Amino acid sequence: MKKIGVLTGGADCPGMNAVIRGVVRKSMQEGYVVTGIKNGWQGIINNDMRILDLRITSGILDRGGTILGTSRMVSPLGDDVMETLAENFKRSGMDAIVAVGGENTLRIALDCYKKKGIPLVGVPKSIDNALSGTDYAFGFDTAVNVATACIDRLHTTAESHHRIIVIEVMGRHTGWIALESGIAGGAHITLIPEEPIDIEEISAVLKSRHKRGKNFTIVVVSEGAHILGYSTEVKATREHSEDIEAVSIGKLLGTLIRKETGYDVRVSVLGHIQRGGTPTSYDRIIATRFGVKAVELVQEKAFGKMASLHNNKMHSVEIEYAVEKHKTVDKKFYNTFKGFSE
Ligand code: F6P
Repeated sequence: MKKIGVLTGGADCPGMNAVIRGVVRKSMQEGYVVTGIKNGWQGIINNDMRILDLRITSGILDRGGTILGTSRMVSPLGDDVMETLAENFKRSGMDAIVAVGGENTLRIALDCYKKKGIPLVGVPKSIDNALSGTDYAFGFDTAVNVATACIDRLHTTAESHHRIIVIEVMGRHTGWIALESGIAGGAHITLIPEEPIDIEEISAVLKSRHKRGKNFTIVVVSEGAHILGYSTEVKATREHSEDIEAVSIGKLLGTLIRKETGYDVRVSVLGHIQRGGTPTSYDRIIATRFGVKAVELVQEKAFGKMASLHNNKMHSVEIEYAVEKHKTVDKKFYNTFKGFSE
């Protein structure tokens, strides 16, 4: 094994550069050359690659985003595209690929491995922490910390003005960011995609708080949550930003709360702030460990597998398993905290 390619695909997130750096440093220890593939899978299709060395990957550990760039691609790719991809891989002289990404990037990885026999391993990235088969996907800790810091700030202004503040956080299919930032930020109501929202139930909680003299409330809601009786399906596809705006769950929820209760409501959609900037030390460490583990998996020829974390130890799982279904929030865990701040 001489030449390893590394790519970062899908939504960027803090820690991607730490993985790249980890892959390069471990590879150098083992005597391998690393090729950086630009903009995810697109880089192989476009033959857009460059050698990564110590100099290029120096000083990037604490930088958000990805020095390789990324692109959003969804499986299945067309037959022609897959053919080009396989041809270009062969011509590149790479012996294996480390694909760093979430469900879409890893699904394409699986197609490349199964249909085209491309030797590859995966690294789990998801600020939503939604990948199965691993306790953790890097990027999540940073997102939760950013969201918590925002909740803290919104808490003080909500209290001063006796307002309801609805804070929309990311999380299309799973409510991990909402739940954990909600716990850390002391949210009074936390709403997740796994549990449909009953607007009457929410209004009753708000009114009962007001009766008890608690005339401000922090509501944290995942962007993928659903309100019973209202359709926000367009949101899940995220294809047209104007549609996304129109159906922002936070804004819809704020409007309905105002209508039902008559209270003063403000809405804050945190959006991509959660994905940008410096990774936390935890994300830097786990991302580095994932990078190292990925190179070890290549050494072992454990292709078709993804590096994973279990009980703070590095393991691996089949990529197929990781992308099969989302790792959703545990209902018992959610219900315990749901009633905490009422
Ligand atoms: O998958 C990560 C994620 O940040 C989701 O939480 C969010 O729904 C989506 O990506 C946003 O995607 P985009 O950057 O394309 O708007």
